[in-house]
Amino acid sequence: MDRIAISGGARLHGEIPISGAKNSAIKLMAASLLTDEPVRLTNMPRLADTRFLGMLLRRLGVEVVERDGPDGPETVLHAPEVTSAFAPYDLVRQMRASFNVLGPLIARTGHAKVSLPGGCTIGARPVDLHLDALRALGAHIDLHEGYVYAQAPRGLTGAEIEFPFVSVGATEHAMLAAVLAHGVTVLKNAACEPEIGDLANCLNAMGARIEGVDTATLTITGVARLKGVTHSVIPDRIETGTYAVAAAMAGGEVRLTRTRSDFIQTLLDKIEEAGADVAHTNDGVIIKRNGARLRAVDVETDPFPGFATDLQAQFMALMTMADGESVIRETVFENRFMHVPELARLGADIAVSGREARVRGVERLEGAPVMATDLRASVSLVIAGLAARGETTVNRVYHLDRGFERLEEKLSACGAQIRRIKGDGDDEE
Ligand code: UD1
Repeated sequence: MDRIAISGGARLHGEIPISGAKNSAIKLMAASLLTDEPVRLTNMPRLADTRFLGMLLRRLGVEVVERDGPDGPETVLHAPEVTSAFAPYDLVRQMRASFNVLGPLIARTGHAKVSLPGGCTIGARPVDLHLDALRALGAHIDLHEGYVYAQAPRGLTGAEIEFPFVSVGATEHAMLAAVLAHGVTVLKNAACEPEIGDLANCLNAMGARIEGVDTATLTITGVARLKGVTHSVIPDRIETGTYAVAAAMAGGEVRLTRTRSDFIQTLLDKIEEAGADVAHTNDGVIIKRNGARLRAVDVETDPFPGFATDLQAQFMALMTMADGESVIRETVFENRFMHVPELARLGADIAVSGREARVRGVERLEGAPVMATDLRASVSLVIAGLAARGETTVNRVYHLDRGFERLEEKLSACGAQIRRIKGDGDDEE
């Protein structure tokens, strides 16, 4: 297993170009199942997660070609025919969002057998809302031995679906299924994350009829077929936010480019409140902090446009060295504080009680070996390591590789002392 070693203390100066959004890219890739024409996705991130989904889609009959286009990495997906509607456990368990092929498979072929994604370290993460939505659209669904067996031989039918609470995955899944349904579907209490808007815009460019994009009510008039498209993936707001926090933590001045600051406005407000400088630019944002210690501020995670749960661990790392006590409340996922004991290994003072973590800022962190537990938690350890005195080694970096493209390269370009140590499986796995 690879590790990442960081010698803390260097200020960051430079520019970091932001990649395409992972959470958008994987849903857009799944949308290729809905048409027999090619779907060309530009501004694609090259990540373990997009690779996993590519493997699964190939298995279902999609031709997946990754190539360098005029504007950087792109992927062309083409499913003239869906040759299999079976998504096996081995491929779905690698990445939970693979489950979202279920809706498109039913919509395109009238049936599917897809593995349940199973639990996950950041809470139970069931898929009941996904299945309820597909049932409401007329799919007959049985669960046996870890698999979903779905049938809709005469196609799906539009329905009104009100989600009991906001779910990004269920909103996207229902949308992917409803675009080819007979009649009108109304999704109420839909999630409004920018990645959902991106998926809706791409589907509309393919000929779908989705109204209410970027609002909590989506009205989808089913169409008989969708066509191919060229679509540019929106910038990754979580990557943007992560480097914004890294710059505030390490100090210095970092310009984040090829992105959108409005996607992370709630985070930027908190970073400013804590005492760092934030300047919006045409294609991103500049984060600057010279010397002064940050102040503790409280945050509570919420669906978009609230504070993103995917930035909670990073912000907690930032608060470990702030002046005062910060209360961080996680409302989206249960059990999303696995980074706390690892941050404590670096000297952080954090007490967790239920969904709340109290972070008392310390004068300094000290480098130590730590272990990545999930994607966002692992990058919080990198951020803490950038500011800690001495060397921090982050183990199990395959979590990072799922969601951060060329992390060491992007940070070293700004002066961070960070390097990957290639491993051969001798970690404490
Ligand atoms: C997506 C993102 C993830 C992000 C999350 C919240 C992707 C690939 N992942 O995950 O990075 O952290 O949104 O912004 O886009 N829930 C149920 N039943 C369901 C579905 C969800 O109880 O059927 C619960 C979950 O356990 C969680 C909450 O709803 O507590 C929100 O989850 P959801 O918005 O669905 O997150 P994901 O789509 O899994």
